[in-house]
Order: sequence, then C-alpha cells, then structure tokens
Amino acid sequence: MTEPRNALVTGGNRGLGRSTARALAHRGIKVALTYRSGASGAAETVRMIEEEGGEAFALRLDIGDAGSFRGFAAELTGELLDRWGHDRLDVLVNNAGTGLFDALEEVTPERFDEQVGVNFRGTFFLIQALVPHLADGGRIVNVSTSLTRHVSPGTSVYAASKAAVEALTRSLAGELGPRGIRVNAVAPGPSATDFNGGAMRDDPELRDFLAAHTALGRVGSPEEIGDAIAALVSPGMRWVTAQRLEVSGGALL
Ligand SMILES: NC(=O)c1ccc[n+]([C@@H]2O[C@H](COP(=O)([O-])OP(=O)(O)OC[C@H]3O[C@@H](n4cnc5c(N)ncnc54)[C@H](OP(=O)(O)O)[C@@H]3O)[C@@H](O)[C@H]2O)c1
Repeated sequence: MTEPRNALVTGGNRGLGRSTARALAHRGIKVALTYRSGASGAAETVRMIEEEGGEAFALRLDIGDAGSFRGFAAELTGELLDRWGHDRLDVLVNNAGTGLFDALEEVTPERFDEQVGVNFRGTFFLIQALVPHLADGGRIVNVSTSLTRHVSPGTSVYAASKAAVEALTRSLAGELGPRGIRVNAVAPGPSATDFNGGAMRDDPELRDFLAAHTALGRVGSPEEIGDAIAALVSPGMRWVTAQRLEVSGGALL
C-alpha cells in the first residue's frame, strides 16, 4: 500500500473538515473538498492549502440530497482527471455532519430526519455513489463522535446517527476488504469549532468542565483531529480496518 495521491473531504470549508484537508495536503495528498453553503470558507481552505504548497479544489455538495450524488461523482471524477490526470479516488473522508441538540421532548420528526438524513443516510449513499470510483487499496474514514461512548444531555438522536455510522463502518470494512479498501471511523471528542454553536470554543465554563474531565486536561483543537485522520490513511496503518479510533485526549473516561 502506497501513500494516497488524492482525497475527498466533505465539509472542508471549516472546522474539522478544513483541518483534515490541510493535514492531508501537508502529507503531499491532493485534496478535493466539498461545502454546502460555505463557498467562501471553501475558497479559503483551498487558498490555505495552496499557500502551504499543496493542491486543492472545492465542489458544492448537499449531503442531505442523496439524489445528487451520482451527478456529483461524475463531476468529481471529471475534475480529478482534468486537474491531476487520473479519475480514481484514493481517500474518502465523510466529515460533513450536523448536530441538533434537543432534549427528548423537543425532537420533532423534521429535526430527527435532518439529523439522520445528513449524518447517516447521506454518508451511506455518498459511499455507495463513490465506491465505484475508489481505487483498490483506498481508504474511507467516517467521522463519528465520542458521544457514541459517553452521554451528554440532548444528544440522543445525534449520538444514534453516529452510532449507525460506526456500525456501517464495520459492515463496509467487510464488504470492501476484498478490494483492499480500509474503512474506519474516527470519533472526535469535543473540539473547538463552530459545532454546537461554537460552544466548545467559546463557552469558558463548558471548556473548563470538559478539560477537567479529559485525561490530557483540555479541549481538542481541529488540527489534532485532522492529524489523526491523516495518520490513519497513511501506509503505516495499512493493517487497520473496521476500527473506531477515538481522538479525544481521553474525554469522559
Ligand atoms: N467539533 C466537535 O466537537 C465534534 C466532535 C465530534 C464529532 N464531530 C463531527 O465532526 C464533523 C465536523 O464537525 P465540525 O466540528 O467541523 O462542525 P462545523 O464547524 O459545524 O462544520 C460542519 C460541516 O459540515 C457541513 N455540513 C453540514 N450539513 C451539511 C449538509 N447537509 N451537506 C453538506 N455539508 C454539510 C458544513 O458545511 P456548510 O458550512 O457549507 O454548511 C460544515 O462544513 C461532523 O460530522 C461532526 O458531527 C465534531
């Protein structure tokens, strides 16, 4: 297994998607990234990668719109061929996700469907659409959450949607293993991004609470998640598949 040549990172316009795209680019991997509404953020990620000596481009994709995925796959492979001379994808990072943190009595069918539709259904059907274009020996990383292991108020639907992603990860590792494709989940702990209204970044009380309940004594940075994902797709991890790797500094053990 060699170093990947290219990668697709969904939700690469900010947060963990941006840090993952940059970490991959730092390893010499060319990066396609997607955004839904954050076109300027996506352009900023591309600019950062180019300034750091890498290559990247951005495409729009709504993970809640599974009907668009075949067309997206054609657009992506066309861009890969035009820009970099091959149309096979080596790495798929399913990072885009949404967190709607509602208590049991507040969850509406609409919000339930949005959560499950993006985090689980969208991840499943995007993998289905892109697997025919994934190189043998490729890698899929699905971004889950530490909340599938520990609990926090109002996270039942979110955590369940990500637990489904973890189950999917193991099943697909079995299905895609004969092609040498490794499928793993990375489960970030609380990380300082816009997620959950930016609470893990901007709420000092929450940060202090989380830091006090984390073995390494602080909240994680986006760069620490991106570096872990980049390490997971590297050849040194070639015998690792069907795993859930928690990257949380030992949160809420
Ligand atoms: N931050 C944390 O503490 C934490 C912890 C555990 C797991 N995670 C997971 O890590 C992933 C990234 O989170 P983050 O912290 O970077 O959050 P974030 O800053 O809120 O970014 C979310 C990303 O997902 C994209 N996205 C959301 N809904 C989408 C849709 N329907 N279609 C396409 N893209 C969509 C957003 O795109 P637009 O901006 O264009 O809308 C954005 O790029 C998520 O899967 C999240 O569940 C985060």
